[in-house]
Amino acid sequence: MLNAEEKQLIEQAVRHYEHPRAACLEALKIVQERRGWVSDDDVRDVADALAMSPAEVDSLATFYSLIFRRPVGRHVILVCDSVSCWIMGYERIVQHISERLGVGLGETTPDGEFTLLPVVCLGACDRAPAMMIDGDLHGDLTEEVIDQLLVTYRGKKME
Ligand code: FES
Repeated sequence: MLNAEEKQLIEQAVRHYEHPRAACLEALKIVQERRGWVSDDDVRDVADALAMSPAEVDSLATFYSLIFRRPVGRHVILVCDSVSCWIMGYERIVQHISERLGVGLGETTPDGEFTLLPVVCLGACDRAPAMMIDGDLHGDLTEEVIDQLLVTYRGKKME
């Protein structure tokens, strides 16, 4: 069930649009920001709130790689696998992160700290290879930069 705060925020979002369904992505983000991911129940609740079918909400949620349909770790690492980053060392970057964390793409570390996911172009092609952690963009990645970032985020608590 959506809580009172989530309902209120979604209602506020809906007011900005002519049609409630236009606020769907915003509503999903509101839920995800508070729960970490979007469950099937959440999809149904958002659909009810926006007078949409769960299937419509689910297809939108699945389309956007920044909406998580499965539980994720405290920190989400999105590694860009589009063309510029691919050329500039995507495979090396993913392999290094995987070795450091002991997980592959799509997996979460046993301690629940990190989830590693691929993502399409982050719009930072001039800084390839690039990745995003918890919404922060990091480019010009090297093994040393990644090691430092992992240490920094491991010590960082989610707000
Ligand atoms: S291709 Fe990776 S940021 Fe654009």
